[in-house]
Amino acid sequence: MHNSDHSGDGPNTAPVQSVLSGMRPTGALHLGHYHGALANWVTLQDRYQCYFFVADWHALTTHYESPELIQKNIRDMVIDWLAAGIDPERSVLFIQSQVPQHAELHLLLSMCTPLSWLERVPTYKDQQANLSDKDLATYGFLGYPLLQAADILIYGASWVPVGEDQVPHVELTREVARRFNHLFGREPDFEHRLGQCLKGLAPEAVAALKQSRSAWLESGDSAARERARILLDRLGLSRPDRQRLGGWIEGAGRQLLSEPQPLLTEASRLPGLDGRKMSKSYGNAIAMRDDAVELEAKIRKMPTDPARVRRSDPGNPEHCPVWDLHKVYSEQSTRDWVQAGCTSAGIGCIECKKPVAEAVQREQALFYQRAEPFLKHPERVDEILKIGSKLASEAAEQTMVQVRAAMGLSPRWI
Ligand code: TRP
Ligand code: SF4
Repeated sequence: MHNSDHSGDGPNTAPVQSVLSGMRPTGALHLGHYHGALANWVTLQDRYQCYFFVADWHALTTHYESPELIQKNIRDMVIDWLAAGIDPERSVLFIQSQVPQHAELHLLLSMCTPLSWLERVPTYKDQQANLSDKDLATYGFLGYPLLQAADILIYGASWVPVGEDQVPHVELTREVARRFNHLFGREPDFEHRLGQCLKGLAPEAVAALKQSRSAWLESGDSAARERARILLDRLGLSRPDRQRLGGWIEGAGRQLLSEPQPLLTEASRLPGLDGRKMSKSYGNAIAMRDDAVELEAKIRKMPTDPARVRRSDPGNPEHCPVWDLHKVYSEQSTRDWVQAGCTSAGIGCIECKKPVAEAVQREQALFYQRAEPFLKHPERVDEILKIGSKLASEAAEQTMVQVRAAMGLSPRWI
């Protein structure tokens, strides 16, 4: 790493930041999931310690009447994560309900989260209206975003890859963390410990931190705050000292819970077979693991530009869902061929569909190849989730030890 300041005594490399994201167990995934969320998860593995989990409790908040689906859906979905290239050697894959600390943190956060914060989350009223066939006037459903906040805060995740609809949940998470730190980050001897900690640092580091702190607190200079954060990460501090200094920069007590940032997943550029958003419930989805015959039939039946009634009528790719597939799957030369051939009626739609059908098939062949060992031995999926749940549990417990102590819940015999 290029590093021009020599102010710290500790290691100069920042600890790896972590990423956390979850999906409700909806079963086998489709290409919209892949080109939306999953392909992004796969690349994040190179830069961050990633935690990816199955949000089975979240599934119950809306589908509490069909618990029988959960176990099968978990395996089918996680096989598709693996098929996409999520690497269980590098990322921690786990099941939410196997890490009960999430529920404990949810409960503790619920003590200090105003009801109004939850009632005004946009998904709350929207989903109640959209899923009007279900009774969502439940306590669990109102608490959905707070459970999500617990999921995120318990790992101290810096980044949360989510779609646009979930950004308000990450915002709520930030507010909840701030309120928690404000209420429970006040150690009786905070000033003293902070002083000790500053004394242990090189004077240049202290000067740099003080300068950034006043730039942030007095003029709201968020770049200065970010500089301070990066410097703090490099100083090789113990966790409690890192939290104290982090809080001091903010003009507050200890930062027991750290505020995450959303990492906005671009909406998938891949619409469904009929041009609407790809969704299993619309019946317009291509599964990540459709077999070749199914895929061929789906693409053959795909509607094209309605203006191209006869082969001799010219068409406009902008009015055709096949073109959307070309935009994702084809190289420039093929796209040029489509543009020219469609608008001049030089090519027919059957011809035009062929290269995308082949490209999707190649992609699916790769998914199959990665999924195959797990389809043959599904117990290997369980094993990955079991190991991951144990690792996640250890990480979550570290946060809970501090949270319990801060909330007065550590009995004297501990
Ligand atoms: N609510 C998310 C969704 O519906 C799933 C989820 C639960 C999640 N907990 C999370 C996503 C924590 C990111 C982080 O897609
Ligand atoms: Fe669509 Fe291709 Fe047919 Fe044009 S030629 S209408 S882009 S399928």
